[in-house]
Amino acid sequence: MRYFIANWKANKDLNEAFQWIDTFIKLQLNNGRVKVVICPPSPLLYPLKERIKNSNIELGAQDISQFEEGKYTGEITAKTLKGLVDYSIVGHSERRKYFNEDYDTLSKKVLLAKKYDIEPIFCIRGVEDKIPQEVNIVTYEPVYAIGTGDNESPEIVLKVKKSLKLDEGKFFLYGGSVDKNNVESYLTTLQIDGFLVGTASLDPEEFFAVVKKV
Ligand code: PGA
Repeated sequence: MRYFIANWKANKDLNEAFQWIDTFIKLQLNNGRVKVVICPPSPLLYPLKERIKNSNIELGAQDISQFEEGKYTGEITAKTLKGLVDYSIVGHSERRKYFNEDYDTLSKKVLLAKKYDIEPIFCIRGVEDKIPQEVNIVTYEPVYAIGTGDNESPEIVLKVKKSLKLDEGKFFLYGGSVDKNNVESYLTTLQIDGFLVGTASLDPEEFFAVVKKV
């Protein structure tokens, strides 16, 4: 089984999101070997939950608060996301860069996600980024490869995986300019359990073409 996580980032309004879902569902992905998780902007999660009801698409948040509840204006907590999403991205390099999220902050997020039955999809930029023990899904995303079309070679990705020395049973994903033309190069090995896809996930047909390669 392979994960295909669509990270829409700060893109799409409700109509565009509905259109995406309707088109993707019509394409009929009948492949038990893939798990598709859409991570839309948070305000779209609830309406999309309704829209995907009879499909095999799952939902994830793009981030989660480091605070459990209380006086934190604007925060989206694990408690409010419980039951709405099964996953949340945590530690994406854009959060680390623009919102100064460090390891302490990220480990609080991981613990809260777990507490509220949300599986963190934990992103690292390289082997120097620590991974909290509770994390089951690790995504390696070298910053230079994100949104540039310059994907990292499967050989290097596998070397990084090796040096991470992940425990048995943990999932290892790759992200960084994955598209329909290069995804197959990562599929030749069973060592890569899936992908975090940004740019190529914004169009449903393009994303379908990526997922279909499995
Ligand atoms: P990209 O983004 O596919 O556009 O490189 C990946 C990500 O940032 O998760």
